[in-house]
Amino acid sequence: MDSTLLLEKLQTEFDLHSYGEAPVELYEPITYIMSLGGKRFRPLLTLLATSIFDTDITKALKPAMAVEVFHNFTLMHDDIMDRAPLRRGMPTVHEKWNANTAILSGDVMLIRAYDLLLDVPKDNLRAVLSRFNQTAAEVCEGQQLDMNFETRWDVTEEEYIGMIRLKTSVLLGFALELGGMIAGADEETVKLLYAAGENMGIGFQLKDDLLDVYGDPAKFGKQVGGDIIANKKTFLLIEALSKVEGDLKVELDRWIALEKFDNTEKVNAVTAIYNALDIRAFTEHKINEYFSRGIASLRQLRSDSIQKEVLLQFVEQLVAREK
Ligand code: IPE
Ligand code: IPE
Ligand code: MG
Ligand code: MG
Ligand code: MG
Repeated sequence: MDSTLLLEKLQTEFDLHSYGEAPVELYEPITYIMSLGGKRFRPLLTLLATSIFDTDITKALKPAMAVEVFHNFTLMHDDIMDRAPLRRGMPTVHEKWNANTAILSGDVMLIRAYDLLLDVPKDNLRAVLSRFNQTAAEVCEGQQLDMNFETRWDVTEEEYIGMIRLKTSVLLGFALELGGMIAGADEETVKLLYAAGENMGIGFQLKDDLLDVYGDPAKFGKQVGGDIIANKKTFLLIEALSKVEGDLKVELDRWIALEKFDNTEKVNAVTAIYNALDIRAFTEHKINEYFSRGIASLRQLRSDSIQKEVLLQFVEQLVAREK
């Protein structure tokens, strides 16, 4: 089954799904963020992983949705933390309503994610819940480190990779692992799936950092330059800080220390410094490195199902994404 068809099946389930009715103030923002779409690639990873080892993906649908609902919950809270105005080309929930709404609607989304996860086959419910709990706690740990790094200037590349492994990668790992567990795959297979997601997730977040600077505003759906404005310790900034010298260093230091500035001016100036240091090519190289590692794990999966190729093709699209 190709990924377009799986995405359609998933979308039908989402369309039929209710997160709750009253009070509307609690549930409306959920319908809002969920209806803005997004790539939905995490639940697709779950379905694709299941499809390699089981011809019937039906039992993976609700658990896959759980992963997407959890992801959207983290976005709702992340946008408050990052003071982000735009998500998927539309105003963020805390901008359209307010922060309290985004907090509480986000909270109930996490609970709804658990409801959906209860649908995993009974014999692996406990194992799945335990892995999900670990993943969810790790995402929070990563998000806390991300905030801690906002006011630190000595963040190393290693610390940064550790942070994004937690905030982003573990969920991709879990999405793939979950698909394997539902299909009853053996332990070694489940480990390979997780490792693939973990490496791809690092590549994916590096690409997110890159698109935040170099993305096409018409396609990206988020505020381009948001990370520069907020002095986020992205891979690009960490690399720039470690390479910059002389006059360029004075200029970069000045921009990051400025408390009052014109957003466009700062974004243009810092981007120009990145360009001068060739940060873009260096980041692209890193992205490919991590995706290649993820792909290598997927290739090691012992299966001759055509679905393995479908998954690999899907991953290629993720590498090349523009949003
Ligand atoms: C955004 O995730 C958050 C990150 C981990 C970088 P996506 O890029 O998957 O966002 P949507 O769901 O497609 O909008
Ligand atoms: C988000 O990282 C990771 C999580 C939501 C856990 P970012 O803050 O870079 O994600 P975007 O760019 O807002 O989507
Ligand atoms: Mg963030
Ligand atoms: Mg953010
Ligand atoms: Mg980002």
